[in-house]
Amino acid sequence: RNLVLHHFTSGSSAVNGYNEVSVIFMLVALSPDFSWSKEVQAKLCNVFQLSKFRPLQRAAINLSMSGKDLFLVMPTGRGKSLCYQLPALCSKGFTLVIAPLVSLMEDQLMYLKSINVPAVTVNASSTKEDSKQVLAGMTDKNSPFKLLYVTPEKIAKSKLLMSKLEKAYNMGLLACIAVDEVHCCSQWGHDFRPDYKLLGILKRQFPKVPLVGLTATATSNVLKDCQKILCVQEPITLTAPFNRPNLYYEIRFKHNEDCTHQIAELIRERYKNQSGIVYVFSQKDAEVVATDLQKRNILAQPYHASMEPSDKSLVHQRWSSKKIQVVVATVAFGMGIDKADVRFVIHHTISKSIENYYQESGRAGRDDGSADCIVFFGFADIFRISTMVVMENTGQQKLKNMVAYCQNVDRCRRAMMAIHFDEVWNDDECNQMCDVCRHGNDYITMDITKHARDVVAIVEMASSMDEKLTPLKVCDAWMGKGPAKYRKTIKVTSLSRVEVESIIIHLLLHGYFSEDFSFTPYTTHFYLKLGRKAALLKNGNHSITMKMRRGMSHATVRVHKFSRRFHISCASAPGFFNDSSKF
Ligand SMILES: Nc1ncnc2c1ncn2[C@@H]1O[C@H](COP(=O)(O)OP(=O)(O)OP(=O)(O)O)[C@@H](O)[C@H]1O
Ligand SMILES: [Mg+2]
Ligand SMILES: [Zn+2]
Repeated sequence: RNLVLHHFTSGSSAVNGYNEVSVIFMLVALSPDFSWSKEVQAKLCNVFQLSKFRPLQRAAINLSMSGKDLFLVMPTGRGKSLCYQLPALCSKGFTLVIAPLVSLMEDQLMYLKSINVPAVTVNASSTKEDSKQVLAGMTDKNSPFKLLYVTPEKIAKSKLLMSKLEKAYNMGLLACIAVDEVHCCSQWGHDFRPDYKLLGILKRQFPKVPLVGLTATATSNVLKDCQKILCVQEPITLTAPFNRPNLYYEIRFKHNEDCTHQIAELIRERYKNQSGIVYVFSQKDAEVVATDLQKRNILAQPYHASMEPSDKSLVHQRWSSKKIQVVVATVAFGMGIDKADVRFVIHHTISKSIENYYQESGRAGRDDGSADCIVFFGFADIFRISTMVVMENTGQQKLKNMVAYCQNVDRCRRAMMAIHFDEVWNDDECNQMCDVCRHGNDYITMDITKHARDVVAIVEMASSMDEKLTPLKVCDAWMGKGPAKYRKTIKVTSLSRVEVESIIIHLLLHGYFSEDFSFTPYTTHFYLKLGRKAALLKNGNHSITMKMRRGMSHATVRVHKFSRRFHISCASAPGFFNDSSKF
């Protein structure tokens, strides 16, 4: 009972404790004695060919069939779709499903067809004849289909569709509205889509129809935002635990020259004959890294958005049937990928947000067997991503959260994710399944005040000469490799390259530096400028400390299996997770 309560809240927030309403709803939701319960159980077995519900599925179905509005937050691959597909079969009329991608809808339609569930779609690629038939079916009392999939664009643009929905609503044939990947409503989610913002019209026009919003990753802020955008008054939020206990999380420093080499070694040795994904930054990287791995006798193929759809599905299919071992992919390889025995997800480049990382790494170990999620954390990549997300309102802040996650050396990686996703978390639950917990206290606390003054002085000097420096130039200059005119005036450091990079990242994350973008017709440049806290360094008493991994100048991090577990200390990463709004 406690377990369920833990994941069951009512109202707008998923973490504000359990009020009376939530307890009542919980008891209601878990009851097996609804008028529809027998039919639901029978269809689960006979139509979907599943023997039992997974956690929260029954509660979600009962709540939505009782007419409640619902947000369902459940990790990828745990079975969210069933929570609207099964009720659709047991209701009068049809359920309207909003999904962001045509390819996602097609996957679902194919699956539904294979189990004989009548489902249809109208989207930009539907023929006139098909659309006409679907539109007519919407107001047909015999309900020729039980699920209607549309893109949000259709809702936003097609008055004809809206008028048919209205007619169906008045006839009592619009059973439910399911908004899949509901985080797309919010700019704070990781995949904002402008047309999702207009979906509030549905609940305004059809207030009596229950709405269910589904997502794998949403913080309580994102959910609050979605609630407002979708005009849902008092939704119930069901949250399945975000933790994936079988995944081992690890961050490694990336040295560009040998990153692919290291990845190849891992694949050949640790993951011999096992399936996995290598995520990369760009389409070009996907091609280059895949070719590099092939040269090292690894069966790898690229996957990215510019490939022909038929080539993409061929790669997907070959990988699913183990004809190739590795897909080297951009984020285009994501939604709808449902392979159970993925044993490793390696990030050749960091993700652009923690939400993205959680989703991408979450493709590992869906069969509940153990799997590794390894990130190669590279200095230059931060700025490549930063310029890529420059147009997104929340892009820099989300990237900084990801960078802080990678830079962290003293907090359990799960604890950091838990905080990010507003989960209640108990330190012991990691079971040494992340590099930080395994390394124990393998870090030192360094006073970097003097270093900070030196490197800030370099940027200050450049700016007084009307010059802009990229982070790489700052590193070079500080290490004595810059142009001769700087060398005379700057204090060259004796720190290693990795230490220099870590300090610059630290200063950027903590506001001593900030980003200064400059646009040319061909590209966007990232320069470092002084941040709002740089002036504090003029004060002789101001000091900055940072935690660094011991021996971090030596490429890879050692893994001590039996080292003492380190407990979370709130003093680390000063202010960052408590006050992410500053970034
Ligand atoms: N009760 C169940 N028992 C066993 N398998 C199930 C159950 N419910 C769903 N599944 C299976 O789980 C897989 C993933 O389901 P689904 O596509 O709904 O995931 P999802 O939660 O929507 O994930 P994503 O966030 O990736 O979209 C499907 O293959 C589905 O058949
Ligand atoms: Mg889904
Ligand atoms: Zn841990």
